[in-house]
Amino acid sequence: MQQIRAIVATEFEQVNRLIVEQLHSNVPMVENVGHYIVDAGGKRLRPLLVLLSAAALGRCDQAQIKLAAVIEFIHTATLLHDDVVDISSLRRGRPTANTEFGNAPSVLVGDFLYSRAFQLMVQLGDMDILRHLADTTNTIAEGEVLQLTRAGDAGTTEEQYLDVITRKTAVLFAAGCWGAARLCGQDEQTRQGMREFGLNLGIAFQMIDDVLDYEGDPTTMGKNVGDDLTEGKPTLPLIHVMRQGTEAEKALVRRAITAKTADQIDDVLAAVQRCGALDYTRNQAQRYHDLALVQLAQLPASDACIALEQITDLSINRDH
Ligand code: IPE
Ligand code: IPE
Ligand code: MG
Ligand code: MG
Repeated sequence: MQQIRAIVATEFEQVNRLIVEQLHSNVPMVENVGHYIVDAGGKRLRPLLVLLSAAALGRCDQAQIKLAAVIEFIHTATLLHDDVVDISSLRRGRPTANTEFGNAPSVLVGDFLYSRAFQLMVQLGDMDILRHLADTTNTIAEGEVLQLTRAGDAGTTEEQYLDVITRKTAVLFAAGCWGAARLCGQDEQTRQGMREFGLNLGIAFQMIDDVLDYEGDPTTMGKNVGDDLTEGKPTLPLIHVMRQGTEAEKALVRRAITAKTADQIDDVLAAVQRCGALDYTRNQAQRYHDLALVQLAQLPASDACIALEQITDLSINRDH
């Protein structure tokens, strides 16, 4: 990752500075909670994608830096809200903001970050970008609500799962890549190609996140494993067991999802393993990874383009 960052090192630094600067508020709690989550780091994958897309398409200027910060703000807002909804206690190697400050501050500061993102977007002065990001943010909100309504539903299909992860995760990746192309003055075809790249990458990324929720290491990931089961989330590994498992395995997983409990997580894990559900999910992620690479192949050869390929590989071969 460090090698990849080096290509846009100066711009990446500027993004990080802008993020910190834009956390400013006269209300102390906003800054406290904002800094708490931002200073914990995170991979900063989305801003990196914006900067590298911009570099691959010819121009990584101040507008791109602003766009990268906007995307990370939206992402951070969703994390604050998501951890409240998921009742998660660990994020970026620290107790979550909801654990540290409570649910109300997390939700409200999440709102601050969303609205700050829109203030920054307005500064870009580009109606197409504003429209696209407004639509994207709206879709993310729908995705999280849709996921909420699917929690506890053991009959969720792979198609429905795909719909949820496209909305809650992939559209933001897509918007960053699309926006970078737009700010570079690229034509419609290139913009759509970059959007497709981001969308497929985002889908692959979330599928691996859902694998890691079953087999990751909390210390490496900086977040807990097993959260999805506790929330009764029918993610792809469980959907696969519901299709391929024995009657006993299906009954076990159905119960865990419906009752939203991880009290039989060891048995659920055994069923997941026996059905090859994590391998199945990884293979699906690989498919979307490959689709993302097809789009990258359309770009002119450059170091930035190679770095985008490497990020795509890393997104499915990662442990955090
Ligand atoms: C976490 O995203 C939320 C998902 C979409 C899976 P990241 O894994 O990019 O989180 P940070 O920013 O690195 O903490
Ligand atoms: C991603 O889903 C959430 C958002 C896109 C906000 P998860 O709930 O799986 O993300 P983590 O695992 O908490 O980071
Ligand atoms: Mg979560
Ligand atoms: Mg997760």
